[in-house]
Amino acid sequence: MRQFSPFDQMINSFDQALRSLVPGVTTASRENPAETHSAELSINESRHVAGLMRVNHSGEVCAQALYHGQALTAKLPSVRTEMEHAAQEEEDHLAWCEDRLKELNSIPSLLNPVWYSLSFAMGAVAGIAGDKYSLGFVAETERQVSEHLLAHLSQLPEQDQRSKAILEQMNTDELHHRDTALQAGGVDLPKPVQILMTVISKTMTKTSYYI
Ligand SMILES: [Fe+2]
Ligand SMILES: [Fe+2]
Repeated sequence: MRQFSPFDQMINSFDQALRSLVPGVTTASRENPAETHSAELSINESRHVAGLMRVNHSGEVCAQALYHGQALTAKLPSVRTEMEHAAQEEEDHLAWCEDRLKELNSIPSLLNPVWYSLSFAMGAVAGIAGDKYSLGFVAETERQVSEHLLAHLSQLPEQDQRSKAILEQMNTDELHHRDTALQAGGVDLPKPVQILMTVISKTMTKTSYYI
């Protein structure tokens, strides 16, 4: 396999970041689950759902960054294919959230570069700490994402079947990603790290709803 110089890797990481952050660049490899569903929303409902979907979109930007950071530093000899598959599914999630935001006449969070940088750094550090921590970090992230998704599902207006279909498929995938990481040897992260992750994700959810 070709060896990349640190400069090559830097360019590659920058390219991956741009692809995750520039709207319209990431495309889904699976059909959007919203496709066969409808959603008739009032202006106020649309605004609320757009806020929720903007948070979910930011979460997916973080997932991209986490997997990119991890791929750069973690060894993962036995589960690299599974992790690449999970990263591919995260691209679907990102594209679906972006599509839904567009349908709601809204835009992704302006703070996404900040969330991307933080998650990339955390993913890379976890990878350096060792594969069991790196996988533990994936498992904990996916668990927290699933928690948010369930909370958002309960806040959606009843008639918004389009957002519901997307969030339900995402939740199924995230739980699968979590199980894969745990089965591959992911360990529980130290409590302070879990708390730091919760603080960052709470800050993200509170701000991305509005900006
Ligand atoms: Fe995801
Ligand atoms: Fe995931």
